[in-house]
Amino acid sequence: MSQSVLASIMDSETASDVAAALAADDYPGAIARLEKFASRGENPALDQRILDLRIEAFQRMQWPENPLQWPREFEAPRQAGKLADIDASELDIETLKSGVFGSGGLIVRELVEPGQVAMLREGIDCALAARHAAVKGEATEVDRSWYGRSNSVAGGPVQFGNLGKRTPADSGSVWAVDSPRMALHLIALYRELGLPSLLEGYFGEAALLSVKKWVLRKVKPNPGQVAGWHQDGRFLGEDIRTVNMWIALSDCGGDAAAPGMDIIPASRRVIHETGTAGADFDWTVGPGLVAGIEKSTPAENPRFRPGDALFFDEFNLHRTGFASHHTEYRYAVESWFFAASRAPHKQQPVLF
Ligand SMILES: [Fe+2]
Repeated sequence: MSQSVLASIMDSETASDVAAALAADDYPGAIARLEKFASRGENPALDQRILDLRIEAFQRMQWPENPLQWPREFEAPRQAGKLADIDASELDIETLKSGVFGSGGLIVRELVEPGQVAMLREGIDCALAARHAAVKGEATEVDRSWYGRSNSVAGGPVQFGNLGKRTPADSGSVWAVDSPRMALHLIALYRELGLPSLLEGYFGEAALLSVKKWVLRKVKPNPGQVAGWHQDGRFLGEDIRTVNMWIALSDCGGDAAAPGMDIIPASRRVIHETGTAGADFDWTVGPGLVAGIEKSTPAENPRFRPGDALFFDEFNLHRTGFASHHTEYRYAVESWFFAASRAPHKQQPVLF
């Protein structure tokens, strides 16, 4: 992003304040000053610059070590074999710990209000359409405000290798950071929801998002498909501290017309063997093994209403829950948060 584009947006005093903050590696300070000028979506150059700084910040900032054992001894009332299920008003550090550690996951009802849900769904459609247009070399100025790769992102996502013919306009996954206006919109929402302090209490230190585990999704109904059971800890490594917040933006799961999630509500903190017992891939847990686990903890396929959220961590065993009655797409946002002291560098942590 050229400095001249930014200079035309803000007054020179702000520009020099931002430069001074960055010279001192004060990324939060620089971002806060830039955000005063940001009106999400109306100034793609500024949105991009703010997001670039959020990605660059991790490498430049100092993060405290946190050698304490985590989770510490935690005596959660265990709801064996059932996901914890609460109203948004009950969400706090204790209910989050109790749900994730005690029952393998926590459903939080009506966390995101309907107006926000509608905006996010629309944003996912725009980001997918803009990516499709970009692939075909037909992106308009408006498309470029919805979809653009930050220079701060290292490498490229898998889907970039196959850009073109195999990137549909109506479904798929997009990294949130590939849509700067969506990424900044989500960060603002997460702050409104009080997630920074909730997660700081949960981890005992600051939380970060990441480039690669923060994903906008629109899943096509596919009655014939069977998704693979997996644990995200299989890819993330075990010396991490993380929690995922998955927000349903569609009526999905259970009897709904869109696919939800099949989830094993188990509190065991183990990574299961993969690639065996009938598994289709080396990263999935085979159906034979899952059948054994289900004898003590049967899978749930909860009904989610738009705006409901599910928190779980890297030990949770789950898959997309396709079923024969599905006719509708399922929209969702997946956000893995990492404790700053253990954030995996390969996921490219993002300040939020
Ligand atoms: Fe997953």
